[in-house]
Amino acid sequence: MPNELGVATGMVNVSVDGRPVEAPAGSSVMDACDLARVYVPRLCAFPGLEPLGDCGLCFVTIDGAEARRACSVQVVEGMAVDTRDDRARGFRRSSMQAILGDHPHVCLTCPQRDGCSRDDCMYGNPPETRCCGEFGRCEIAKVAAYVGALEQAPAYVHRELGVIQDHNIRRDLDLCIGCGRCETACDILEEAGSALKLVETRTLVAADGEVWEPRSYLGRHVAVPKAEDLRASGCTFCGACVLVCPTGALTAPGAKGAAWLSKRRNRSTLRPAVLPPEDRLAFTRDVVEELPVCEGVFRVFDAGGAVLQISGVMDLRRGVSEALDGPLAGDARTFVFEIDPMYTQRESEILARHLQEHGSLPRGNDVLGDLFDDEDDDLF
Ligand code: SF4
Ligand code: SF4
Ligand code: SF4
Ligand code: FES
Repeated sequence: MPNELGVATGMVNVSVDGRPVEAPAGSSVMDACDLARVYVPRLCAFPGLEPLGDCGLCFVTIDGAEARRACSVQVVEGMAVDTRDDRARGFRRSSMQAILGDHPHVCLTCPQRDGCSRDDCMYGNPPETRCCGEFGRCEIAKVAAYVGALEQAPAYVHRELGVIQDHNIRRDLDLCIGCGRCETACDILEEAGSALKLVETRTLVAADGEVWEPRSYLGRHVAVPKAEDLRASGCTFCGACVLVCPTGALTAPGAKGAAWLSKRRNRSTLRPAVLPPEDRLAFTRDVVEELPVCEGVFRVFDAGGAVLQISGVMDLRRGVSEALDGPLAGDARTFVFEIDPMYTQRESEILARHLQEHGSLPRGNDVLGDLFDDEDDDLF
């Protein structure tokens, strides 16, 4: 309902896939979908940050009319949002394919992707076209798997834009999709220093004279510091840019980087990312025997979807197998896992988030341990 200045106030009633939901007036259709707990794909939007509105992944239909971007349309009273419409899903697939044309993606389609050691590629894919250190946990892979049709993505062309290590932050410009999240977070968060800008990517001219242009709207830009490095740009090293990056473009590598980022995550004012619903695996011996033998974190759920256990382990297959024989096995029905060499840090992060959301740890994690180990650390 508009006030005397014409500004929308109060709450409006909308429906998302038939589910009624009350959303604040002035909020976006995407916000309403999040409130209704109906996932809409996104790569340029992040909770609490103004989206660029250019990734083209959040298409939905509204009141049966044409497909619109959920992040860029405001809710109005009585609106009916459909996130499952075929036209909208077709637009999402086309957008995702274009984005993947600008980003290495054999890691998303490779038949060995669930069990690969990443040291040697058995299909001979060169390192710059395959998975980076975020393999198994990057947001873009989860969103791409949800949107689908990855096999039709155009071949990726590596432009050698370069890698910059700046204190704990590693910036791989070839992995940047230009989503703008880092720049926006850095501009608006109180703890951040407005240190980043988006710049145009350069056009690539091949030896045979062929000109290569970005395939996606996002791909026209990459994010860089405003000055010659982060410190000179006013960076406060709050870590927000790394936390919101959906790809391996911004990371904090190594044990020191992981510890640094974990502390920033615990102090950050950012809201959690909204991710696609997870495909949970059956908690059975035959499924567990197919798990990769590598470091990672797994979560076990009961029949109602409640988390029973969160564990970081050196060997996923062995760790989940031991849980199968453990005291919670009788109640456990499904599990998910992620590969992560920094599994103890990742376990702490997931436990901290669980504690924040539920007020207690899962039944199988009754010891806090060093969850909030927050000894003095230097600025960088
Ligand atoms: S971020 Fe890394 S692992 Fe994820 S899709 Fe991109 S290259 Fe692959
Ligand atoms: S770490 Fe620096 S560049 Fe990144 S969001 Fe914080 S202030 Fe900005
Ligand atoms: S560095 Fe990451 S968050 Fe920033 S624009 Fe690139 S992909 Fe997006
Ligand atoms: S999330 Fe809407 S266009 Fe990117």
